[in-house]
Amino acid sequence: SDPDPLQDFCIGDTKSELSVNGFPCKPATKVTSDDFFFDGLSKEGNTSNPFGSIVTQGNVEEFPGVNTLGIAMNRVDIAPGGLNPPHSHPRATEIGVLINGKLLVGLITTGDVYYSKILTPGQMFVIPKGLIHFQMNIGEEKALIFTAFNSHLPGAVVVPLNLFLSKPSVPDDVLKKAFQVEKTVIDEIKSKLGA
Ligand code: GLV
Ligand code: MN
Repeated sequence: SDPDPLQDFCIGDTKSELSVNGFPCKPATKVTSDDFFFDGLSKEGNTSNPFGSIVTQGNVEEFPGVNTLGIAMNRVDIAPGGLNPPHSHPRATEIGVLINGKLLVGLITTGDVYYSKILTPGQMFVIPKGLIHFQMNIGEEKALIFTAFNSHLPGAVVVPLNLFLSKPSVPDDVLKKAFQVEKTVIDEIKSKLGA
């Protein structure tokens, strides 16, 4: 859903100090084959963290070749029992395919309706732009997913981190009221998330 490009390509100059709607283009004379290829998704990510999952991103910041093309991909590794926690992408619809493992994929609409399915390898899912979704590995093996987006920089609002680990912090009174709990619960959530 990014705007259409106005040229064949515009390899992002990610070091530029200019900030436009995307990155400025690297001079055409400096463009090489390497600019159109990216091996950042070839390696398994380290899932040793509280969620037991890791997203390796292939957006314009890591793969400047996608600059202005309205497209990006991720690799998601999830340990058995691990969760890619509820999150949304403000600028893109997501489509994904499960390569390995047994995966529960869930999404929630703006009307608070929950949709989900358990996937086996080769099966796909789609997450409409902006909706909150998650993936949980409910199998015994590692799960591997590749996801794709119709934005070169989809953005990710990871709900628990966004609310509980922002800097500066969201006031405790706001979190207490929002979740109808005592401050001790807020403190526990924050410390377990690694605050
Ligand atoms: C999975 O939901 C991803 O954002 O890559
Ligand atoms: Mn996602």
